[in-house]
Amino acid sequence: MGSMDDSPPPPRKSSDTTSPVKSMLKVLLLIVTTNILTIYLLSSPSSPSSLNLQSHLLLSNPTTSSISTTTITTSLLLDLNATRHLLAAAQIQISELTRRLKLSNSLSESLLSELGRHANNPNAASDDAAQVVAAWPEDIPPELNLAIGPHALPLGYSPNIGADKLYPPLGLACQHYQEEVFKYMTYKTYGECPSDDVFAQRLMLKGCEPLPRRRCRPKSPVGYTHPAPLPESLWSIPSDTSIVWDPYTCKNYTCLVNRNSASGSYDCKDCFDILRGRERARWTFDSGGLDYGIDGVLRTRPEGTVRIGLDLGGGTGTFAARMRERNVTVVTSTMNFDGPFNSFIASRGLVPMHVSIAHRLPFFEGTLDIVHSMHVLSNWIPDTVLEFALFDIYRVLRPGGLFWLDHFFCLGDQLNATYVPMFDRIGFNKLRWNAGRKLDRGIEKNEWYISALLEKPMT
Ligand SMILES: *[C@@H]1O[C@H](CO)[C@@H](O)[C@H](O)[C@H]1NC(C)=O
Ligand SMILES: *[C@@H]1O[C@H](CO)[C@@H](O)[C@H](O)[C@H]1NC(C)=O
Ligand SMILES: *[C@@H]1O[C@H](CO)[C@@H](O)[C@H](O)[C@H]1NC(C)=O
Ligand SMILES: *[C@@H]1O[C@H](CO)[C@@H](O)[C@H](O)[C@H]1NC(C)=O
Repeated sequence: MGSMDDSPPPPRKSSDTTSPVKSMLKVLLLIVTTNILTIYLLSSPSSPSSLNLQSHLLLSNPTTSSISTTTITTSLLLDLNATRHLLAAAQIQISELTRRLKLSNSLSESLLSELGRHANNPNAASDDAAQVVAAWPEDIPPELNLAIGPHALPLGYSPNIGADKLYPPLGLACQHYQEEVFKYMTYKTYGECPSDDVFAQRLMLKGCEPLPRRRCRPKSPVGYTHPAPLPESLWSIPSDTSIVWDPYTCKNYTCLVNRNSASGSYDCKDCFDILRGRERARWTFDSGGLDYGIDGVLRTRPEGTVRIGLDLGGGTGTFAARMRERNVTVVTSTMNFDGPFNSFIASRGLVPMHVSIAHRLPFFEGTLDIVHSMHVLSNWIPDTVLEFALFDIYRVLRPGGLFWLDHFFCLGDQLNATYVPMFDRIGFNKLRWNAGRKLDRGIEKNEWYISALLEKPMT
């Protein structure tokens, strides 16, 4: 109730607000009444102690005959029992009243703060709501209208779904980027889709994920050739004509591989160089520090029990390729940042999954043997988003499943202040943990990496 003093006074001028003021007064009256009642009930339990005192006095009276003493004692005990029952009932009532008192307190507090907000700004409440949900206008593009529904379900399907209509999924944040979503949903129905991958992905990254489905056909590359067969495909550069890619700067895979030497700051810029260099060597050795080898990691589990997994933000799919060579099936989630990562992974004969780091993992809980993530999880992700992501990884791992956190980037002061406590909160067992400075410029800039092998507990 202390917060009542802190809350702004109710407004008096506006006629709209008179009924909230009335209800506020009612709530205050209710609070006072319940308080008085509570005080009354709390004071009444003192009577049993005086009863006890009386019975002691009576029992110790030597002039009373033994028979009448017994009778009196029995009746006193009965009285005592009845009083106990009453007392117990009163205690239940008190706790119920205390609960109601708390409820009415919180009601009055929220009522008062609501009134205060209306006094300061009549639109306050609706502004807050707009931050979460922005309404669509009346005239949304017809394709969008059809895509997002709702659509009535046939009778008899309702018991399985728990509703009589179906709303196809759509990222909540799409409503904050309405013009872009309208543009995305404006195309020739049953025709060819616009070439708008980059535009669409930008929408996804802003939280409009999943995007609405469309009824159009994306253009196939001119001169498409079949991919190489497995296992050769794992280490083959796909033909330049097998993908459609943003043609502004880099038209083909040959260019993607060779741009490493260029000064541009591309995401995962040496990932495409799968025939030589760093990408080829990754996870094949254990440095004893931040670099763990796949074979060493697999040896921490009974042989053959790591069979399926996810590489979160897995670049061109080399981790999945190395796992595939060990008969482990790994899905690679990746966005097409500055490059056709999804097509490249697919051309290697691996499974790409186009979801952002913010997206709930599309796996059922307790299913995966391993989740790996290199470089993608790091201090660029807002702490809250990261914590939810880590709990999601915990969710999809099976008991005894491994989370291999590979080169998590942060600054030295964040390491112990933020990330060590956060990882501790998730509930993994630590099988291995290494923190080390980033080698190139880590010393002067206090930049650090964490690598860890974490295990979801068996129970
Ligand atoms: C008092 O109540 C208890 C249990 O509630 C019972 O066991 C006991 O016999 C009662 N005593 C008398 C005197 O009724
Ligand atoms: C690949 O693209 C680059 C420019 O992006 C071009 O110079 C080169 O000729 C292309 N290579 C092939 C084989 O088409
Ligand atoms: C993978 O499975 C194949 C077929 O079952 C088997 O011949 C091969 O030895 C396995 N490879 C490894 C590394 O276990
Ligand atoms: C973090 O804490 C550990 C243990 O207290 C300490 O050894 C380490 O130097 C700290 N690391 C950083 C980067 O401050």
